[in-house]
Amino acid sequence: MRALIIEKHGEPSAVVSLRDLPEPTPGPTEVRVKMLLSPVHPSDLHVIRGRFARQRQPELPASPGSEGVGIIDAVGSDVPQARLGERVVLLNVQGTWREQVICPSERAIPVPAAISDEDAAQALVNPMTAWTMTMVEHSLARGDWLVQSAAGSAVGRLVLQIAKAQGFHTINLVRRPEQVAEIRELGGDVVICTAQEDWPEQLKKAAGGEGIEKAIDCVAGRTGATLARQLAPGGRMLVYGALSSHRQTDPAAFEMPIFAPALVYSGAEVRGWFLYFWLQRKTVLESGEVLRSLLEQMAAGRLKPSAARRYPLDRAFEAFSDTERTAHDAKPLLAFAQP
Ligand SMILES: NC(=O)c1ccc[n+]([C@@H]2O[C@H](COP(=O)([O-])OP(=O)(O)OC[C@H]3O[C@@H](n4cnc5c(N)ncnc54)[C@H](OP(=O)(O)O)[C@@H]3O)[C@@H](O)[C@H]2O)c1
Repeated sequence: MRALIIEKHGEPSAVVSLRDLPEPTPGPTEVRVKMLLSPVHPSDLHVIRGRFARQRQPELPASPGSEGVGIIDAVGSDVPQARLGERVVLLNVQGTWREQVICPSERAIPVPAAISDEDAAQALVNPMTAWTMTMVEHSLARGDWLVQSAAGSAVGRLVLQIAKAQGFHTINLVRRPEQVAEIRELGGDVVICTAQEDWPEQLKKAAGGEGIEKAIDCVAGRTGATLARQLAPGGRMLVYGALSSHRQTDPAAFEMPIFAPALVYSGAEVRGWFLYFWLQRKTVLESGEVLRSLLEQMAAGRLKPSAARRYPLDRAFEAFSDTERTAHDAKPLLAFAQP
């Protein structure tokens, strides 16, 4: 079977190679999944560069990849034979950029027939992030308001769909003027372009009252700092990314200068949020339930991941560069051989 492998950290085009490896055999409680599609997320590129969270950096050599969809083509002796042929998504299984992935059977979650392979391949990382931050951490209720940065991102677009279904309102930040109309079209109540110099004033006006009650930010830098400064008394912002630091090479852009009085006098909170930290504190049964409910929402047409584009393994480098291209219009998916 073919696998994308890294033996050392560096730029993806320099360190990722396509290798032939022996077919793996599942242990008694495991299944083997013949992969169909696996996305390239910004965080996968951080893993390749050796800049991701330490606890998520695999020992090398390793295959990158954090989720995907495939078909069970072998089962261990303790797993029912009836699972053979099931189409599944992988729940928190690392190393998905290979034609065959071995995982514990309880981490292979069945996919409803109504969901396309493209959507199923993206069912975990971004939908679970969008859902957990909004509905669990922020407990947004009908009529509440949420401010989000990078509203055009895959996560941002999922948040807009959850807002529509759950009845909360959104104030959205985008960096390109042409995205304003698009995000409004997707249901964003207020859309502000950070390319306009007076965007902090526009945000203040839109938030009204004493400021921002609830926010999520994946840009950090000046954008994150401005949001933090406008938090209302008791307001709360979850920081879940740092896109300001392009390719994570500019340490200064990771910084978010916090205006201390805004926090001190208001008791506001700025907190990090990391899917894998959240998953670590859940049992497989609990996180599996969340994933199953997201799959149900997708099957019912209430939640749709980003448009996607397939790249065969021998064109993986194009997928890597497209992941970081400004104004990319689709989530790159690595496409494995069809069963
Ligand atoms: N903490 C977690 O557990 C967790 C989980 C999932 C995702 N994330 C993070 O969430 C972020 C979005 O992920 P994704 O998969 O949704 O990404 P994506 O679909 O690739 O979208 C990236 C978006 O960010 C925008 N962007 C890029 N650099 C920016 C900057 N410097 N300032 C403002 N906007 C910028 C892009 O705007 P243009 O359209 O203008 O190019 C694009 O809309 C990433 O940082 C990712 O690592 C974190």
